[in-house]
Amino acid sequence: MSNSVLIIDFGSQVTQLIARRIRELGVFCEVKNPNLKFEEIVKINPKAIIFSGGPNSVYEKDAPTIDKKIFDLKTPIFGICYGQQLICHLLDGKVEASKEREFGKAEIEIVSKSKFFKSVKNYQVWMSHGDSVKKIPAGFEVIAKTKNAPYAAIADEKRKIYGVQFHPEVVHSVDGKKMIENFVINIAGCKSDWTMKNFKVEEIKEIKKLVGKNHVICGLSGGVDSSVVAALINEAIGKQLTCIFVDHGLLRKGEGQQVREVFDGRLGSSNLRGSSRRVSATKGLHNFVYVDASKLFLSKLKGVSDPEKKRKIIGKTFIEVFDAESAKIENATFLAQGTLYPDVIESSHPNKGASHTIKSHHNVGGLPKKMKLKLLEPVRMLFKDEVRLLGKELGLPDHVVGRHPFPGPGLAIRIIGEITEEKIKILQEADAIYIEEIRNAGLYDKIWQAFSVLTPIKTVGVMGDARTYENVLALRAVTSIDGMTADVYHFDSEFLCRVANRIINEVRGINRVVYDFTSKPPGTIEWE
Ligand code: XMP
Repeated sequence: MSNSVLIIDFGSQVTQLIARRIRELGVFCEVKNPNLKFEEIVKINPKAIIFSGGPNSVYEKDAPTIDKKIFDLKTPIFGICYGQQLICHLLDGKVEASKEREFGKAEIEIVSKSKFFKSVKNYQVWMSHGDSVKKIPAGFEVIAKTKNAPYAAIADEKRKIYGVQFHPEVVHSVDGKKMIENFVINIAGCKSDWTMKNFKVEEIKEIKKLVGKNHVICGLSGGVDSSVVAALINEAIGKQLTCIFVDHGLLRKGEGQQVREVFDGRLGSSNLRGSSRRVSATKGLHNFVYVDASKLFLSKLKGVSDPEKKRKIIGKTFIEVFDAESAKIENATFLAQGTLYPDVIESSHPNKGASHTIKSHHNVGGLPKKMKLKLLEPVRMLFKDEVRLLGKELGLPDHVVGRHPFPGPGLAIRIIGEITEEKIKILQEADAIYIEEIRNAGLYDKIWQAFSVLTPIKTVGVMGDARTYENVLALRAVTSIDGMTADVYHFDSEFLCRVANRIINEVRGINRVVYDFTSKPPGTIEWE
């Protein structure tokens, strides 16, 4: 039997959180669509199964369901909300629409001693449901209730089947994580052995097997995901990997050079350590291609102000440059991509209908179609924080693994309106000061993304005795889990004044600095 947890995704918006909670326990888990064939479940041979929540009613005609034989596997099962209702429905209990939808905080009362509640001390849970269980199946007992939910938690302790009406995976269920731990570790007996060290060893074996004697191309952007992918594949097959770094000239100040220092073996960097396969004289990647395409990008963007047009031009130009470079590489069979697990889960989410089409709208370039390369996505099972840990394990420097996310089109979408070389320079300088101050204040890792936006608004100022008429710079900093939603980061005003002062004094072209207080939603993180 494997040591993994299988999560069946019935379409809840928060299924990913169940996976996160389990991975945090050091246990591997996979999220699968309910279409998964029973034989495949047998093949996966999980040590525990979780049914997620979902928006349907179990008694609807086309409601997602699962083969009843799953209960014969004798694998411990835990159903959350829709999952609990499905367990009851399939095992001849009864589920009905509640008179009122229940949404928000509730307090559970534990009514029967169960391992499921071991060490649970806080009883606040989060409810979000329309239907509820009206009759529990034979063999089950109630282990907790709330004022409105007589079957808030049920259990068949003998068969190790559990179900809850609430969502233990969200933070508002204060001890929810403990309940998940009780089920996964104490009841199902999973071991905490999912570490990035093990992942690295296994994945390197896997890459070697898959690639064989073929060659891999990898687009390196300097961001966390592609850097980790490059370093991992480099550990596995070294010389059979070529990384192409297309510098579009729209990176943060000095970042192009930094990427080269870390990855270009010929520059003699010692940042990528650890592989005995690497020739000692070259400490970075064996094959690193740096393309300075900044002039080309700038000429294509001349006169363009519309954000979507900018994105399209950059995407298309990127593919052209990347294509031309990769055409020079003989027998290239694979294209490596830094696809992450949230993309994989989202793409196969039951309500999206798509089965495994990987999103590419946020990947500049995507897969050049005519290249006919096979995809190699070695971190497709990992969440962002796991990718960072893997990067550390691979010896990548902190400034690479901890770097804030950066959009593919780069500063092009942080310069409002037309892009010129001069504006890029102004923004790079101002942003470098902002980030330096954030780092100096020890705040960098507390923030998901911090950046500056160069606005086309000009305001009047006085500097010395002279009148100035220059641009307004906006500063933005947000906290977020995954970039889907974001909150404003609250600096103290002294900090902001210091940054504003420095920028206005040190960067010619900016005479006023403002701070953006917009959360997402309703705003987006980027301005364009
Ligand atoms: P928004 O602005 O949509 O951003 O709230 C969410 C996250 O995505 C990044 N972003 C992009 N990344 N190409 C990218 O590769 C893009 O066109 C793009 N637009 C936004 C943004 O920086 C944030 O992390």
